Amino acid sequence: MQRRDFLKILMTGASAAVILPYAGLTTAMAQTSAATPLPIPELMRGEMKDGVRIYDLDMRRGTHEFFTGVKTPTLGINASYLGSTLKMKVGETVRLNVTNNIGEVTTLHWHGLHLPAKADGGPHQPIAPGETWSPEFKIIQEAATFWYHSHQHNKTGEQVWRGLAGVIIIEDEKTKALNLPNEYGVDDIRVVLQERRFNRDGSFAYINSMPDRMMGMSGDVPLVNGAVTPTFTAKTKKIRLRILNGSNAGFYNLGFNDNRSFTHIGSDGSLLPESYETNRLVLGPAERAEIIVDVSDGKPTMLTSFGGGSGGSGGGGMMGGMMGGMMGGSDSAFNFMLIQPQASLTDSAEIPKSLVTVKKLAESDAVKTRRFNLEMKMGPMMMLGLGAPFSINGKSMEMKVINEVVKLGDTEIWELTNDSPMRHPFHIHDIQFQILDRNGQPPVAGERGLKDTVIVGPGEKVRVITKFENYADSERPYMYHCHILEHEDGGMMGQFTVVA
Ligand code: C2O
Ligand code: CU
Ligand code: CU
Repeated sequence: MQRRDFLKILMTGASAAVILPYAGLTTAMAQTSAATPLPIPELMRGEMKDGVRIYDLDMRRGTHEFFTGVKTPTLGINASYLGSTLKMKVGETVRLNVTNNIGEVTTLHWHGLHLPAKADGGPHQPIAPGETWSPEFKIIQEAATFWYHSHQHNKTGEQVWRGLAGVIIIEDEKTKALNLPNEYGVDDIRVVLQERRFNRDGSFAYINSMPDRMMGMSGDVPLVNGAVTPTFTAKTKKIRLRILNGSNAGFYNLGFNDNRSFTHIGSDGSLLPESYETNRLVLGPAERAEIIVDVSDGKPTMLTSFGGGSGGSGGGGMMGGMMGGMMGGSDSAFNFMLIQPQASLTDSAEIPKSLVTVKKLAESDAVKTRRFNLEMKMGPMMMLGLGAPFSINGKSMEMKVINEVVKLGDTEIWELTNDSPMRHPFHIHDIQFQILDRNGQPPVAGERGLKDTVIVGPGEKVRVITKFENYADSERPYMYHCHILEHEDGGMMGQFTVVA
């Protein structure tokens, strides 16, 4: 894209009262779609030293060219924008040397990883500018796709928006034996979906209105691994996409523009027990999905987020749909990435139907049910900006308050409800959970894997079950929160400890 197209986009934005109409972007976008190859960030395997696998991560400032000739000030980890892909192996001990060179205090959280609270990288593990933080822990969980991102108190939304996020791939022997595509960058592709908004000078725009704060930051420019609607050239008949919704607030109703079906194989914290075919998949912020796309027909296809109602797994019925639409809670429409198969394609193995056995936790194993109601203060209070607009069970996040104390070894049910007109992706640190039911119904095929983030639609009741194991710490808490980062920063977050 030329500078003048970029300016054209920005001008369209400036003249519109609200967010850029997507239609205003398509023409200019189409011009770039063939041009930018999908960035494949470095795969870091770490270095084995005395039985510990060591990763050196440099959180830094930089500039990044999202548009040719336009330099956007950014943050990144070993890169100008976003971070390397870290590969970890089940059973190994890892140490991450995280150096903060961004010139302001930050943290780095390992989202979805089961670890001691002191290694979590949440708001209680700040890294001062110039310092290095070196958490160490053993990988004891299922193989899947995870991520890492800033979790700086009240600043998470802004720091992630500027680029502080990356991907972690955990592998194990059991899933390797399934013969799924697993050559990184060739047929096993990391796909970080984000949307961003830019100022006219090319810098990132962040929170310039009350709706940005209330609904979370939306953008008009779709990014995949930091590139605007890039093209991935397929060399194999089947491609595994490890998709992360890395957006601050956008929900994506994903599919392909030619409506081809794909195979859904994995969720947040594990592969699915069984793969299944679909042509649509809703991903809320922080959720992951592994899918296999078959491009053996040789035709190009566009990974697309279809706009429209707040449907999908978190669909909130008519009220939710209407209000969701009004509140900007509907799925955003974007052309994310073109997949262009090359002329001759290498064969890929069959995708098995049965993938992993995850030991099912039964309702009868639970010693306790905790209830969490997600709330937004609406009406005059919100308009006047009085009081904290976001809360859980009537309380907004306070660093000094431990909201819940869990006993080590206990299995618990967490019952999530949502009193507000928006969908909230609810996330719990430390553990992976299983969905027991959604509005009394057993989970659909795509929600039967291990998860750490679940969409709770307006008026919905979602019950999840999990076991708190291995790590206890009466001092340091883990977080649970809405993963719309502006909601998290606004107080829709609480803290729990696990005690022996
Ligand atoms: Cu993705 Cu509390 O984090
Ligand atoms: Cu997390
Ligand atoms: Cu929320």
